[in-house]
Amino acid sequence: MSSGNADTVKGIVLAGGTGSRLFPLTKVTNKHLLPVGRKPMIYYPIEKLVEAGITEILIVTGTEHMGDVVGLLGSGKDFGCRFTYKVQDEAGGIAQALGLAENFIGGSKMCVILGDNIFEDSIAAGVASFRSAQPAAGSIGCAHLFLKPVEDPQRFGVATVVPGPDGGPAGGRITRIVEKPAQPESDLAVTGIYMYGPEVFEIVRTLRPSGRGELEISDVNQNYVERGTLGYSLFGGWWTDAGTFESLAHANVLVGG
Ligand code: DAU
Repeated sequence: MSSGNADTVKGIVLAGGTGSRLFPLTKVTNKHLLPVGRKPMIYYPIEKLVEAGITEILIVTGTEHMGDVVGLLGSGKDFGCRFTYKVQDEAGGIAQALGLAENFIGGSKMCVILGDNIFEDSIAAGVASFRSAQPAAGSIGCAHLFLKPVEDPQRFGVATVVPGPDGGPAGGRITRIVEKPAQPESDLAVTGIYMYGPEVFEIVRTLRPSGRGELEISDVNQNYVERGTLGYSLFGGWWTDAGTFESLAHANVLVGG
């Protein structure tokens, strides 16, 4: 098991999946290698982790394009970090890909970013406060999500929240998460940036495949909701995924290519 303790935050970029919604752009390459502005898509989540002071980063991707991913990213020295690579044999879901990180994480905390999420805000302050957060006595751990109000919440995981004492996220918590609801309870999309303690792997082991045959990250998050330990922040700047033709085109505009 690799080194790590409860005050260390390691990074994970999930870059598996089939990219089927971008076919034929993804016929001979991995979605996360496609250009967004002047860089390959996967550079953006990596740069956000490094900016937050995270230098041990695991990249998870599928078998077909692992060689190209390693060829592009290398050891991490060009980014000021150190990469470890792990193969996800089949696209069994975001939570399945996360489960592959257990040995890499050891006893650390982690910040997970989906490889197709591109956003403006820095996560440095959120990572710093999660690094020093202590789970409440008796709880197995805590997790923290970044939410963003959107016009089309039914495309995403959607959160219902109880704000903190001052009406904002500080001291507030998430009370419900639903994956792609037909009738969303709020306009708060769950972005693909997640912070967990090492107990998350115990939760992943309890999951069963959803209707679409995947281990769902929303089921992981709902587990923290049920324990009352899921905190949140709100993104003030822009945020998008880049997994559809529309959102990929939008991402190119947002980064100012
Ligand atoms: O972008 C945020 C949304 O991402 C969240 O609001 C949803 O709750 C979450 O389920 C996810 O929704 P998507 O349907 O957009 O996920 P998608 O299948 O497109 O996968 C997103 C990324 O996760 C993909 O770029 C790579 C990684 N992934 C996905 C799968 C299914 C893997 O590494 N392995 C996988 O098996």
